[in-house]
Amino acid sequence: QEGDVAAGEQVFKKCSACHNVETDKNKVGPHLQNVFGRQPGALEGFKYSNAMVAFGEGKVWDDALMTEYLANPRGVVKGTRMAFAGLKDEKELADVIAYLKQFSTA
Ligand code: HEM
Repeated sequence: QEGDVAAGEQVFKKCSACHNVETDKNKVGPHLQNVFGRQPGALEGFKYSNAMVAFGEGKVWDDALMTEYLANPRGVVKGTRMAFAGLKDEKELADVIAYLKQFSTA
């Protein structure tokens, strides 16, 4: 099921304390412009946890990986610095991904 961009913009309020997506300025978390198509933990100039860097080896953020991660960040990337419990609602997950994709060319 395709996500709803407008609903996803609302869901992103759960992320925006730590992430920009409309600009390329990092906060506590890395900015999320062009995150789709990028290797996890590989944005130049952002200091990731060792866990995120290791997780990213040989991977690229796509819908499936993003869904898995956002549902349970600390379960999927053990040792991540992202202090967020995750999104348990499948619609919220699809919606926030649709919203994020507006800011990725991949
Ligand atoms: C990392 C998305 C909520 C802090 C990431 C990454 C993504 C992401 C995709 C990996 C980025 C990359 O590989 O460059 C989201 C979304 C959120 C959310 C969509 C809301 C649903 C939060 C919150 C915080 C946070 C609330 C702060 C309390 C971080 C940090 C990292 C990170 C510090 C780097 C993790 C590490 O190096 O282990 N986030 N995030 N995020 N996020 Fe979030």
